Amino acid sequence: MPTTLLRGDYEELAKHRPSQNQIIQLLKQPDFFRLPRGASSRNQSKRLDKILGFKISKVEQKLLKKYKAYYSFDQSGRKQKYQGCETWIGLHPQVLQTPYNEIFDFFEILRVHNPKSIVDIGAGYGRVGLVMASMFPEATFSGYEIVEKRLEEGNRIFERLELEQCQMHYADLSKESFTPPQADVYFIYDFSDPLDIRKILRQLRSVNENRKAFVIAKGEFIQPILKKYPEFKSIVPLAKGKSWDILQLN
Ligand SMILES: C[S@@+](CC[C@H](N)C(=O)[O-])C[C@H]1O[C@@H](n2cnc3c(N)ncnc32)[C@H](O)[C@@H]1O
Repeated sequence: MPTTLLRGDYEELAKHRPSQNQIIQLLKQPDFFRLPRGASSRNQSKRLDKILGFKISKVEQKLLKKYKAYYSFDQSGRKQKYQGCETWIGLHPQVLQTPYNEIFDFFEILRVHNPKSIVDIGAGYGRVGLVMASMFPEATFSGYEIVEKRLEEGNRIFERLELEQCQMHYADLSKESFTPPQADVYFIYDFSDPLDIRKILRQLRSVNENRKAFVIAKGEFIQPILKKYPEFKSIVPLAKGKSWDILQLN
């Protein structure tokens, strides 16, 4: 089993089911999540989920048996909607989550700022934590998620890979009672509606009032929010892509 990944090795590794120790060693390579030239982002992420030991399809299928899909108009009452918030149940797992290589690329941009703490707002299965552990092993990761089965699976993998610096927590981020902790970098990918995102952005600014902190915002929601509310007028993106922005908060 190779511990140094070469281009295309993801296919091989996924076939051979590496041992827990081998994966722990692979994760120590800071380039582990970089996309090999010519490879497909989603395909690489799918293989990586398997290599890392995730059982995401199984969890998502179970959720879909119990809860209404996000696109469903079923009024029969046989299935309930997940606690009234948008959990994207029924969405393909590779669309629900940010590809590993994209997270890697965002962190490359922020590498010069040497982040020591990273928080994911609506963390899914905790992919952001895995990439962080590989690139910034000294940093800590906290992922906040409302779907318990997802966060349990994320914590199972963190434990299996002995990543004590990574933790998933249960939280309903839309509640006024939830205050995000101070951190150097926040990650937000389509966790909720514009009002909840406005609430979170306000809180992130306020808990980091006198310190440098960044937000990686994936999706096309952030620019309209920055434009609409005057309180965010001073925020200018540090970097920008087709469907993402990296903002410096204060
Ligand atoms: C699009 S996924 C992104 C997952 C992960 N951040 C990533 O990029 O791979 C958004 C996640 O936010 C969670 N979520 C939605 N509303 C939430 C809320 N009010 N509180 C906590 N989590 C929430 C959903 O369950 C979902 O897992």
